[in-house]
Amino acid sequence: MAQPWRVVWITGASTGIGAEVARQLAADGVIVAISARSAEKLKAAADANSNLKPYPLDVTDAAAVTDCFASIERDLGPVDLVLAAAGTYSPVSLDDFSPAPFRTMYEINFLGVVNVLTAVLPAFRQRRKGHISWIASVAGYRGLPKAAAYGPTKAALINLGESLRPELEADGVAVSVVNPGFVKTPLTAQNDFEMPFLMEVDEAARRTIAGLASGRFEVAYPSRFVTILKIARLLPYRIYFALIRSAVLKR
Ligand SMILES: NC(=O)c1ccc[n+]([C@@H]2O[C@H](COP(=O)([O-])OP(=O)(O)OC[C@H]3O[C@@H](n4cnc5c(N)ncnc54)[C@H](OP(=O)(O)O)[C@@H]3O)[C@@H](O)[C@H]2O)c1
Repeated sequence: MAQPWRVVWITGASTGIGAEVARQLAADGVIVAISARSAEKLKAAADANSNLKPYPLDVTDAAAVTDCFASIERDLGPVDLVLAAAGTYSPVSLDDFSPAPFRTMYEINFLGVVNVLTAVLPAFRQRRKGHISWIASVAGYRGLPKAAAYGPTKAALINLGESLRPELEADGVAVSVVNPGFVKTPLTAQNDFEMPFLMEVDEAARRTIAGLASGRFEVAYPSRFVTILKIARLLPYRIYFALIRSAVLKR
């Protein structure tokens, strides 16, 4: 299928949603710069499709992110779309409570996106062109058990998009946020509970690409799960906590 972008940059593109979005875009003829820490996985993907161009990167290294974006534009030309998909998750245990997972998830999930924005915005604003998007999560809608470190980073990412979208729109730059439900990837493979509405990664990637092309601010899926969670977001705390206790904590 013809896509509206010539060059796309994806972080978190070695596995999971980022890798599959990259693979599908490359199959459609888009040139995709793929970044993550695992250089070998990126190389293997690039060996399978020459439209995939590996740019190994740790998104927590702000200077490296800026250098990486400059190299991509120098090698491949102006980037039309950036998808910041790099992220990590580990459950918070009350028996083992410490700042470490909070710091790690904040550094990768939230500041990693801020580093990408810092690298990309000067060029996009100067050209009055470009689309920057990042993967948050439906886990950012409301607090969820075990997600005390992960959830706040995703809530912050949604808020970041709401904050930046109007001003950047005035500068000709598009901003959007992708909020997936449960998708079958290495990140969710560690979950020991039944994940409602679990989606295959190829379907998640298709929905992500279609949503990004639509120009909507929020790209969220699967729709039934998203609707349930958006209704849950409106519930008073008394009812919300009662539901969480019966649905999640009894497991
Ligand atoms: N799967 C789900 O159900 C789900 C639901 C909602 C939101 N999400 C979000 O979707 C995004 C992708 O997740 P996924 O499920 O596809 O997980 P995944 O398969 O674990 O992919 C995570 C990607 O991020 C990269 N990454 C991690 N830390 C990095 C760092 N410091 N610098 C650069 N790259 C880094 C990983 O590669 P390296 O390890 O090689 O660096 C990998 O490519 C994440 O932001 C996640 O929070 C996932």
